[in-house]
Amino acid sequence: MRVVVIGGSGHIGSYLTPRLVEAGHTVLCVTRGQRQPYIVDDAWTKVERVTMDRASEESAGRFGSRIRDLEPDCVIDLTAYTLESTVQLVEILRGHVQQFLHCGTIWVHGPAIEVPVTEEQPRKPISDYGVRKAAIERYLLDQARRLHFPAAVLHPGHLVGTGWMPLNPAANFNPAVFACLIAGREIALPNMGRETLHHVHAGDVAQAFLKAMASWSNACGESFHIVSAAAVSMGGYAESVARWYGQVPRIRFLPWTEWRALASEKDANVTWDHIARSPNCSICKAQRLLDYQPRYTSLEAVRESITWLIAHRIIQA
Ligand SMILES: NC(=O)c1ccc[n+]([C@@H]2O[C@H](COP(=O)([O-])OP(=O)(O)OC[C@H]3O[C@@H](n4cnc5c(N)ncnc54)[C@H](OP(=O)(O)O)[C@@H]3O)[C@@H](O)[C@H]2O)c1
Repeated sequence: MRVVVIGGSGHIGSYLTPRLVEAGHTVLCVTRGQRQPYIVDDAWTKVERVTMDRASEESAGRFGSRIRDLEPDCVIDLTAYTLESTVQLVEILRGHVQQFLHCGTIWVHGPAIEVPVTEEQPRKPISDYGVRKAAIERYLLDQARRLHFPAAVLHPGHLVGTGWMPLNPAANFNPAVFACLIAGREIALPNMGRETLHHVHAGDVAQAFLKAMASWSNACGESFHIVSAAAVSMGGYAESVARWYGQVPRIRFLPWTEWRALASEKDANVTWDHIARSPNCSICKAQRLLDYQPRYTSLEAVRESITWLIAHRIIQA
């Protein structure tokens, strides 16, 4: 197929775009051309790079027509964050594409009642980002089920890959948390360290997009969680990182208000965003309907990422 990937050079695109080429598709990658993919891959020589700024093209009302003019069979939209943005695209692509895959997020869910959370559970997002992504999901599934627009939605968890900082055991992106654990120094975690995080390797997200394309009759009109097979507790995650480096984990547990007072405002806000949800999502639906089989556990994905970050001296123990 002729596949247009919108935003195909970021965390997910760095893995997905080359794999689409390897699968035999003709691939066009739409970006502003401001950043390079995280990983080097010869497949990029076969990717047609299309430079445009979605925001300014949308303001001018011509983003959809510019994508349609690329004559895609399949559009993978990795950079839609508002309903209006998606509607503009769908209205103009209607009748012109065989497949439209939107990248959502597990943050369409708020705090869970039953875990692992399934796709069937009602959406109760607790942030503006989650609310907007849930609105896009609702719209696309409605378009698919009532009006036969060929849409599917994939909801990744916390993305992990080579070249960027994964969400750490304190549920933020401060590299000092990994550095302390690796060096055997004490870290503090909020509460009892029992809240959960749900990572996914970006290569597994790429796998899911390819499998959704290949199993289209199962994927169309559906949404899927795309995460590792199991969430991790923050305390268990911290212990694992320390043990990888031969350290005895030294973790102090503090009530949230005390922990927050010790952290920077930025770290505390990011941590709160994650622990307030404590994601723990089921992949049964994706396994059953798409044959999604994540290659990485959460800990394997993070370990690969940390190894790279240490080698590049971004984490210095
Ligand atoms: N990051 C996470 O942990 C996470 C978790 C769950 C779900 N998601 C979802 O995953 C999707 C992709 O996220 P990501 O983390 O892979 O994104 P990302 O790394 O920020 O990559 C964004 C991509 O879009 C391009 N881009 C950004 N602004 C653009 C614009 N105005 N016009 C055209 N291209 C633009 C970027 O290239 P240029 O800068 O060169 O334009 C890049 O290729 C999003 O829908 C997000 O909601 C992310």
